[in-house]
Amino acid sequence: MEICLASECDLESIASLEKDIFKDFWSIDMIKSQFEMQNSGYIIAKNAGKTAGYACFTYVCDEAELLRICVDKNFRRQGTATKIFGKTEEIFKEKSIAECFLEVRAGNVNAVSFYKKSGFEILGKRKGYYTSYNNEDALVMSKKYTREN
Ligand SMILES: CC(C)(COP(=O)(O)OP(=O)(O)OC[C@H]1O[C@@H](n2cnc3c(N)ncnc32)[C@H](O)[C@@H]1OP(=O)(O)O)[C@@H](O)C(=O)NCCC(=O)NCCS
Repeated sequence: MEICLASECDLESIASLEKDIFKDFWSIDMIKSQFEMQNSGYIIAKNAGKTAGYACFTYVCDEAELLRICVDKNFRRQGTATKIFGKTEEIFKEKSIAECFLEVRAGNVNAVSFYKKSGFEILGKRKGYYTSYNNEDALVMSKKYTREN
């Protein structure tokens, strides 16, 4: 499995995975404009040239936000997201990020479990945040970094 920063030629495969997995999927235009933003990036995992998963992050000063992380169903529970997030955290370290935030559907037990295993803690809740998912609440989670980790 190759894990690296995505380049422009990876964006179509990211869009295709988005469409397969999320009801509120990002269009190719949204993916491209996020890609072009400063202080933002995608980490992609490829297996034999096929996109197995990706993450999208952004940061301002020493705060980062994990906007997306997703893995093709065929590559789940094999440590793929862990590797993708590990690479993302290498970038956080280079940028001296002190804390990473994210929002996740309260009912997305797989993702909440993944985030907890990855060191995130629940900070609070946003009521009715996900309109594409029956107004489900969002959990706001964060992970703090010290200079040592
Ligand atoms: C959440 C997601 C990214 C996890 O990807 P993954 O590659 O399967 O995760 P990993 O194999 O690295 O799992 C690491 C740990 O997370 C937890 N975890 C992951 N999937 C889980 C599941 N289905 N049920 C319970 N715990 C889970 C476990 O603690 C796991 O460790 P273990 O396998 O040793 O028990 C994947 O399920 C996914 O793409 N979901 C759909 C997209 C999504 O909801 N993304 C989050 C919101 S943007």
